[in-house]
Amino acid sequence: METPHQNHINKADFHDVYEPAEDSFLMIDALEKDIDYLKAKKPIFCLEVGSGSGIVITAFSMAFPGTFCLSTDINVKACIMSKSTACYNKALHDSINMNLADSFTNNKLDVIIFNPPYVVTDSIECGQKDITASWAGGKNGREVTDKLLDMIPKKLADNGVFYLLLIEENIPKEVCEIMSSFGFNYECIIKRLVRNERQMVIKFFR
Ligand SMILES: C[S@@+](CC[C@H](N)C(=O)[O-])C[C@H]1O[C@@H](n2cnc3c(N)ncnc32)[C@H](O)[C@@H]1O
Repeated sequence: METPHQNHINKADFHDVYEPAEDSFLMIDALEKDIDYLKAKKPIFCLEVGSGSGIVITAFSMAFPGTFCLSTDINVKACIMSKSTACYNKALHDSINMNLADSFTNNKLDVIIFNPPYVVTDSIECGQKDITASWAGGKNGREVTDKLLDMIPKKLADNGVFYLLLIEENIPKEVCEIMSSFGFNYECIIKRLVRNERQMVIKFFR
């Protein structure tokens, strides 16, 4: 998969929107590793939740030009940047200012991608709509992620796939147990140690 260009973004704009970092690139690498599996699925709809600068959903859209690509972000400035990243890279993509996947109708999404705010923080820091939403994950860094987990059985198509980035502090084993209780299988696609952070991308499928 190609990494989208970002020359159109002023460095100062990253005061308000998450600047792509190792976690963003790990998610792109995970999707690339799984590209044959994804191509075999011929996805019609792909949603990235929390798209930030739009680098991940744009990379997906460039690799899957026949897929209707959408993204959401709670931060309106991230939605605007995501759209501009897609345009600059001549990729098609629509961006919606929305909490998680709230307004999507049931079981229509073939692929869901989430690189969540995963840093362990006080709960009170969660739920902002600015740059804080990029990293503040509350208890175990899981408060936002857990809300999306609850939605996955209702939003994902029956043969759909959900890619989630986690760090060790998020207790990935517990996330896998929650998803198993909803009837999902799981597989760790990729792991990387980034400074002191053990990052991984896990895929969930029925
Ligand atoms: C770690 S950043 C990842 C950004 C981008 N996907 C990337 O990989 O570079 C998490 C993103 O999730 C967004 N976010 C946090 N809470 C959200 C929510 N409840 N609904 C939608 N987006 C949310 C943040 O605004 C931020 O853009």
